[in-house]
Amino acid sequence: MTGPTRAQPSELRRLRRQIARLCDDFSGYLISGADARAVRATKGSPTYGEITVTSLARLLEYLDLGPDDVFYDLGSGIGKVVLQVAMTCDIRRVVGIEMAHSRHSAAVDILTRARAADLLNVRDCRLEHGNFLDRPLADATVIYTCSTAFSETFMRKLCDKLSGLRPGLLLVSSRALLTAGRFVQRDRLLLDMSWKRRSPLYIYELEGD
Ligand SMILES: C[S@@+](CC[C@H](N)C(=O)[O-])C[C@H]1O[C@@H](n2cnc3c(N)ncnc32)[C@H](O)[C@@H]1O
Repeated sequence: MTGPTRAQPSELRRLRRQIARLCDDFSGYLISGADARAVRATKGSPTYGEITVTSLARLLEYLDLGPDDVFYDLGSGIGKVVLQVAMTCDIRRVVGIEMAHSRHSAAVDILTRARAADLLNVRDCRLEHGNFLDRPLADATVIYTCSTAFSETFMRKLCDKLSGLRPGLLLVSSRALLTAGRFVQRDRLLLDMSWKRRSPLYIYELEGD
């Protein structure tokens, strides 16, 4: 069996340039008071931060996704994770869900640019505006959430919701689950994030009953 290929530095440089060009003029860091209130109303946090392109490439190599996978980014910001997954993976579907309207609409614009430039490998790419706690996620095989700023209570709610999904589901979270329920920790990767180098990403797998 051959493992996933490691992206070469030159490919990563090209990808970083392409993503920077597509996301030029857009930033998720500043949002309106109304947007911040809408996110807080879900009990989630509007605090922003991103995984770097290289770190996400490393995570995707580790996950080694295949044509049956469905990847969700819960709290997808301006959609950079969805974009990179769509540009570099060969999977069934990628979905981002974001509550802050301005971030969501930037993500839609960026993805539209990428589609127009024919840069997307994954045809079924979706960006949804709303509270991910209210969305059905039944088709998910991998869920990513950059959850460092989420409260413990919010993480528990998310964990309860995800516990109803199919066994084998992988959850990648930047915040550790203190109450993991049916999730078993499989790994802990140290990857650079926009706010800290070598920041932990916890990989959990949902076990059956
Ligand atoms: C740290 S940012 C992550 C951005 C993106 N995933 C990335 O790595 O580039 C977390 C995002 O989650 C969003 N968020 C927080 N609670 C949410 C909720 N309940 N439903 C949808 N989005 C939420 C915030 O607005 C914020 O944009």
